[in-house]
Amino acid sequence: NCLLLCKEIKTMFLYILGLVTVWYLYRWYKESKRVPNKGSKYVYITGCDSGFGNNLAKHLDKLGFCVIAGCYTEKGETELKKVSSERLTAISLDVAKSESVKKVAAFIKTLVGEKGLWAVVNNAGVATPSGPVDWLTIDDYKSMLAVNLNGVIDVTLSVLPLIKKARGRVVNVASVFGRISPFGGPYCVSKYGVESFNDSLRLNMAPFGVKVLCIEPGFFKTSVTDTVMLKNQFKGLWDRLPQDMKDDYGQTFLETSEFNQLRDSDLMKVVHCMEHAIASIYPRYRYSPGWDAKFLWLPISYMPTWISDRFFLRYSPKPKVSMI
Ligand SMILES: NC(=O)c1ccc[n+]([C@@H]2O[C@H](COP(=O)([O-])OP(=O)(O)OC[C@H]3O[C@@H](n4cnc5c(N)ncnc54)[C@H](OP(=O)(O)O)[C@@H]3O)[C@@H](O)[C@H]2O)c1
Repeated sequence: NCLLLCKEIKTMFLYILGLVTVWYLYRWYKESKRVPNKGSKYVYITGCDSGFGNNLAKHLDKLGFCVIAGCYTEKGETELKKVSSERLTAISLDVAKSESVKKVAAFIKTLVGEKGLWAVVNNAGVATPSGPVDWLTIDDYKSMLAVNLNGVIDVTLSVLPLIKKARGRVVNVASVFGRISPFGGPYCVSKYGVESFNDSLRLNMAPFGVKVLCIEPGFFKTSVTDTVMLKNQFKGLWDRLPQDMKDDYGQTFLETSEFNQLRDSDLMKVVHCMEHAIASIYPRYRYSPGWDAKFLWLPISYMPTWISDRFFLRYSPKPKVSMI
């Protein structure tokens, strides 16, 4: 009897394994299909001076798309033009300024004509000021939300009619910190906002044939995660605290606050997800590039609050007056 049961369990296991393999093969085949006529498709990317945006602009240019690269600095614009084809248009853009967003949208309208815009990638973002909530002012929040959240909404609305015309795509770069908030400050707030905007837009645009896709990377080695920059700005926030707050937190809090997260230096993991969202006939709703995103942050985000809180509190520095 026991032998028979073992045999049945083995057969069942093989069936399940077979089904899972067939499912993955089917998904791989379906997702490998790409949209035709790349040369006549315009893709507008924000924040192309560095990091993911810069790499994506160059990658899509090589694949034959017509890239419109929004650059924050003149230097970024010039350097990107130097290494790309004539199809790529680099243009000055500050997503936090409505005038700049409008100007670029008007330019894109004349450029794409009746075809419309195939995709917009809301990539521009900042990660500072970042620190404990009670170290910050409302202006600190406003300055980051202006780029990371209002910028995303403003840019999207400015080109949405052109995207509807092309039955195209909106790709929003959120973060794993749009799913869980392990630290204070406006960054997670802004990324939760992007997630929400993404989800409501996806539902609202579905009847128009517009796809809305979200990228939620883990930690990658770019300027937003630069250890020295993050430490310096943290020290800057500390320096402006009133003495009684400094006494509550204690010098050790400042010294033991850690910014050396494990950062993946393969930015192409993120770029390939962005490219898939733009060019695949069957894109995914969500992409989570990075091992830390898949095996740490997302699983923690599904856990009960008491477990995730315990985990974060266990591994974060405590103020001098801490009662836990
Ligand atoms: N790196 C990560 O681990 C990580 C993880 C999750 C999500 N993300 C998100 O990924 C996106 C890209 O970041 P990244 O990691 O590639 O860092 P990055 O290299 O700093 O890229 C951000 C880009 O946005 C530009 N930018 C800043 N303020 C702007 C503004 N007001 N208007 C237009 N552009 C502006 C920056 O220009 P300057 O370089 O000239 O300042 C830079 O080119 C961001 O939304 C970020 O939040 C990053």
